[in-house]
Amino acid sequence: MPSLSHPSNWRATDLQQDQSWILSIDEQTRQEMIKTVVAVADPSKTLFDYRREDFIWPRANVFLRAALQEVKNRRGIALIKGLPRANLTAHQFEILTWGLGLHAGVPRPQGKKTQYISAVRDAGVSYRTGTGRGYSSNADLDFHTDSSDIVFLSCFNKAVSGGKTIVSSSMAGHDVMVREYPEQAKWLYEPIAFSRQGEQSPDEGPFVMQPVFSVQNDKWFGRWNWNRVRSAQKIEGAPQLSAEHHAALVQFDRVMRRPDIAFEMWLEPGDLQIINSHVTLHSRTEFTDHDDPDQKRLLYRLWIAPPDSEPLPACWRDLYRSCEPGTVRGGIRGFKHDAQCAEFEARQASACGMQPYKL
Ligand SMILES: [Fe+2]
Repeated sequence: MPSLSHPSNWRATDLQQDQSWILSIDEQTRQEMIKTVVAVADPSKTLFDYRREDFIWPRANVFLRAALQEVKNRRGIALIKGLPRANLTAHQFEILTWGLGLHAGVPRPQGKKTQYISAVRDAGVSYRTGTGRGYSSNADLDFHTDSSDIVFLSCFNKAVSGGKTIVSSSMAGHDVMVREYPEQAKWLYEPIAFSRQGEQSPDEGPFVMQPVFSVQNDKWFGRWNWNRVRSAQKIEGAPQLSAEHHAALVQFDRVMRRPDIAFEMWLEPGDLQIINSHVTLHSRTEFTDHDDPDQKRLLYRLWIAPPDSEPLPACWRDLYRSCEPGTVRGGIRGFKHDAQCAEFEARQASACGMQPYKL
């Protein structure tokens, strides 16, 4: 077992007591962002029409770099507060999020439609089906990891009630399992089937085999998603879980929800949460939305492959398509990953000094 004496191995009280992972941007930085975004945001453009160099905001980048340092090398979570929400339209706020993403790495596609930003809102989708995705529903979500190294989530509108964000350190979950349930912890290093929820591209299978815990170069990685594991049990050809393996997963999921492990937080309009998928799990409570369409809960989600990523264990290759460090990896390519997507990714990779993966 690797050494897990690491800042990512935190408990809920650690995040409460030391809030250096929360960065509040100042008025001058806000003004810099407003000026830049108002000048470049154009609804007639596609996301691919924007370049990294369109977003010249040296002050904003100081905050972004500090947040990414916390996410990649320390606790695996950061919160930037005070994005200029009140001064921007929803579209401008989306482009602001996109601009920050372009400074962090290569945005990754996120589903069937090969979208590079997901508007996280209740679109009436049912989460607990073989093809459901939580971000388009108002449901209580299972603790899970998204399919990319880094996740950005910016908040434009809150719900009337509910929609609380919960983040747990999966490394802490591992720690608890090893100390309190050592026999069950061993099962979590064994591969299990995770469904792709019907979003696989033509050259991908309907599920991937991965353990919950894996290690590469003494670095620890976690992946979890009950919804996808349950869905995979119904896919023909997917290995069935033994009773002991199932019980170990139930125990781990229970541990991740314990009040000493799970950190609860409200994302306010103007907040940007950034998380490292490999050392955290996240969840969200069910919510009740506003009637007015302009006030409905709305967040923008970006998935990022950063230029300084670590090598991944080989068992991640099926999901991320590349385990090599600093490569364009992760995401869900979906059904529309075409030459334009490849061109955008190659261009952005080159701007970040990275190698795109081979088509
Ligand atoms: Fe998620």
